[in-house]
Amino acid sequence: MTTRALTDPQALRDLIESRLFAFPKRHFLASQDLDPPDILALLDLADAFVDLNRQTTKKLDILKGRTQVNLFFENSTRTMSSFELAGKRLGADTVNMNPRTSSVAKGETLIDTAVTLNAMKPDLLVVRHSASGAAELLAQKVGCSVVNAGDGQHQHPTQALLDMLSIRRAFGHVDSLTVAICGDVGHSRVARSNVILLNAMGANVRLVGPPTLIPSDADQWGVEVYHDMREGIAGVDVVMMLRLQLERMDGAFIPSAREYFRFYGLDREKLSVASPNVRVMHPGPMNRGVEIDSEIADDLSVSLIQDQVEMGVAARMAVLASLAARLEA
Ligand code: NCD
Repeated sequence: MTTRALTDPQALRDLIESRLFAFPKRHFLASQDLDPPDILALLDLADAFVDLNRQTTKKLDILKGRTQVNLFFENSTRTMSSFELAGKRLGADTVNMNPRTSSVAKGETLIDTAVTLNAMKPDLLVVRHSASGAAELLAQKVGCSVVNAGDGQHQHPTQALLDMLSIRRAFGHVDSLTVAICGDVGHSRVARSNVILLNAMGANVRLVGPPTLIPSDADQWGVEVYHDMREGIAGVDVVMMLRLQLERMDGAFIPSAREYFRFYGLDREKLSVASPNVRVMHPGPMNRGVEIDSEIADDLSVSLIQDQVEMGVAARMAVLASLAARLEA
């Protein structure tokens, strides 16, 4: 792990070169596919990319000649631009596609699109889809490497990686930290990916939320479950807030946004029971005043939310570079 930014361009390139490794799998689909040594290697590589991204000249040619297609069936600004920048900074030709999903024939549309795209010979396909399992299905149909940029309520592994990078840079380590993931866990692929990755790296994970938003099988996730926010965040090192995924709710999961904020919204008063060094995270987009108070979100002495966006580009560069290194092997 870098403790001090490298500013000499050649030394930085040498460092990146020395940390490049061939990812052991063809695809990057889910947190459970990552073993601790791979996670550490990705984090170390991402640390070097953070240094690169802070330089005036950010471009490398690790993906020169490669074609990266970002196939986003769901709306996304931050994740798609993060992957696009990551690919471009590594020298890939990147293309963004936002096909419209037909709600009647999603499966058919996905496979049709996959087969068509495959004929264009991309090397890396980054996919986001509203159906759980979509990335894996697509991976079975194409000849290139697939990166899951979020599939339904299932997985969002690059988000978990960038979150871990943000945590490790803030605390210097991940093991033995207590992380409370709060809010709409039930509809959240971010929560599922983070629980697996944090557990793999030795953190203690708590889930905090109303019973309607905590999955019924959460007791088998290797976490502690709390329904009272103050109890759940008492003494924790990290509070990771989740967006209320209203678009995935097909019924009344909360009485009202106001009521929700009263019990589960993160404000200064609730946060006061956490560790004095607590850091607050949110994957974005935030519903300010619903799950998090702006005063906390914008307080740079506790909020890692802007760091998460910065770490997102570096973490995705690490994933794309290591997948491409395997393609070459
Ligand atoms: C997350 C997602 O799409 O799963 N956002 C993101 O990747 N920027 C979380 C969310 O939508 O709430």
